[in-house]
Amino acid sequence: MTTIGIPKEIHPGERRVAATPQTILKLKKLGFDVAVEAGAGNEINASDAEYQEAGASIISDAAELWRTSDVVMKVRPPEDNEAELIRDGGWLVGFVWPGQNRDIVDRLAKKNATVFAMDSVPRITRAQKMDTLSAMANIAGYRAIIEAANNFPRFFTGQITAAGRIDPAKVLVIGAGVAGLSAIGAAKGLGAIVRAFDPRSATKDQVGSMGAEFLELDVKEEGEGKGGYAKEMSDSFLKAEMALFAQQAMQVDIIVTTALIPGKPAPKLITKGMVESMKPGSVIVDLAAEQGGNCALTEPGSIVHHKGVTIVGYTDLPSRMASMSSQLYGATVTALLDELQDDEGKLQVDLENEVVRGAVVLDHGKMMWPPPLPPAPPEPGVPTKSSASVAVAKAKSSAHGADDGAGINPIVLVVIGLVLIGLGVVAPESKLSHFTVFMLAIFVGFQVVWNVKPALHTPLMSVTNAISGIILVGGILQLSGSNFNLTSILGAVAVLIAAINIAGGFLVTNRMLAMFRK
Ligand code: NAI
Repeated sequence: MTTIGIPKEIHPGERRVAATPQTILKLKKLGFDVAVEAGAGNEINASDAEYQEAGASIISDAAELWRTSDVVMKVRPPEDNEAELIRDGGWLVGFVWPGQNRDIVDRLAKKNATVFAMDSVPRITRAQKMDTLSAMANIAGYRAIIEAANNFPRFFTGQITAAGRIDPAKVLVIGAGVAGLSAIGAAKGLGAIVRAFDPRSATKDQVGSMGAEFLELDVKEEGEGKGGYAKEMSDSFLKAEMALFAQQAMQVDIIVTTALIPGKPAPKLITKGMVESMKPGSVIVDLAAEQGGNCALTEPGSIVHHKGVTIVGYTDLPSRMASMSSQLYGATVTALLDELQDDEGKLQVDLENEVVRGAVVLDHGKMMWPPPLPPAPPEPGVPTKSSASVAVAKAKSSAHGADDGAGINPIVLVVIGLVLIGLGVVAPESKLSHFTVFMLAIFVGFQVVWNVKPALHTPLMSVTNAISGIILVGGILQLSGSNFNLTSILGAVAVLIAAINIAGGFLVTNRMLAMFRK
């Protein structure tokens, strides 16, 4: 059986641990044996006894834990002699930051290790449950507001009291990625007035949906680069946004900056002059501190006071909420291990799997990082191969005179036409008007349903629900007679199907509404 080892983190100040008793239950469910270093959970208030209760064995010597584990699960990249402790051919899963830690990767390669970097898991929809970066950014964004509130000498929310009126705090969030949106949510929750800015136009609606005001520039430049991340902006854009921030700095009480460009130092967006223009007591929380900071006065890892303004440059915000961070971290790593298991539960490196290919740094000592770039998404308006072939097919079918939406064979249309004419000639006159309505209903229904875009399926469902209601009434009316004949059977079938449709419609609508409820 594969043994997973969870050592105590040795990085100074790191409180997180790669597994909690709850995530160990999941690892056990996946069929792993788990060993935890004694005291690994001290900082998250998880005792050795709790880990044992969840099914882990406790090992007091770190070196023994590394030596006896098939896979070591860590939070921070290996430090000091940790890379030497891994056993020959062992596996390691955790934050690695291979771009910044080449020497550690080289040392692990010498031990023929297989290494997965949680920081390199591709951020695609399928891999969301393994997206440690988003899980940690969400916590950092929330904690940024808590740190701001801790250093801010006023309420966030406005109040009218007998002793006087207190204005709500004004918060500016720069960069509306995962951390920025989380900070907006937390600040709104505390009652502040929140504004936000991001060069990626896709964020405008996201900011609006969280109840914040999206600030816009006159300069038109799209900030979206590869994989949904921001690209480096032009000098004229940076100048324009900094003019906006200079204006805002005089008005707002709190600035949370989260602006990052993958693989580049953080853009400097808040100058010393802007800090000095802020009201005394104002707070800046710089979430980009680790990458050099968005504010000129940020000191990574500490708090600076400058002319009455507090600048928080902590680089360990998720670690400051260690038990929750460890829980989410452990869950994402466990999801990756689940992805790595084959049908028999054995761990394997399947390079065809895009998530595995993105995250693997070393495969049995062989350097696999950086992964090949995924195919670029199509530019809007530029036809892809498949859309082009659809267009060709459409052009062909319209050349044959077929209906463009449904693409019905013209021979079928001619046959249907002849059958209808035949029916019109032989059918009794009393049934003819019913028959005409029936045919028109089929035609209109077909056109409506077939041409509806997937995005409009929900309103379509409401319409079909209403139609099902009419069918239900019609069916019940046919059933109300005492005769048992073909009409009553058809009436019963209509009632059954319409009832299923209505009940199903309500169920689906209810589920969709639940997604928007808080
Ligand atoms: P990040 O931490 O790399 O950057 C933070 C924010 O800074 C981004 O929104 C970026 O646009 C902004 N920024 C960069 N330069 C700036 C400037 N000069 N001025 C102001 N703001 C600036 O980004 P994060 O939060 O890690 O993710 C960004 C995006 O990645 C997401 O919004 C999404 O599009 C994509 N993503 C996709 C996921 C998926 O599962 N499909 C999961 C997570 C992220």
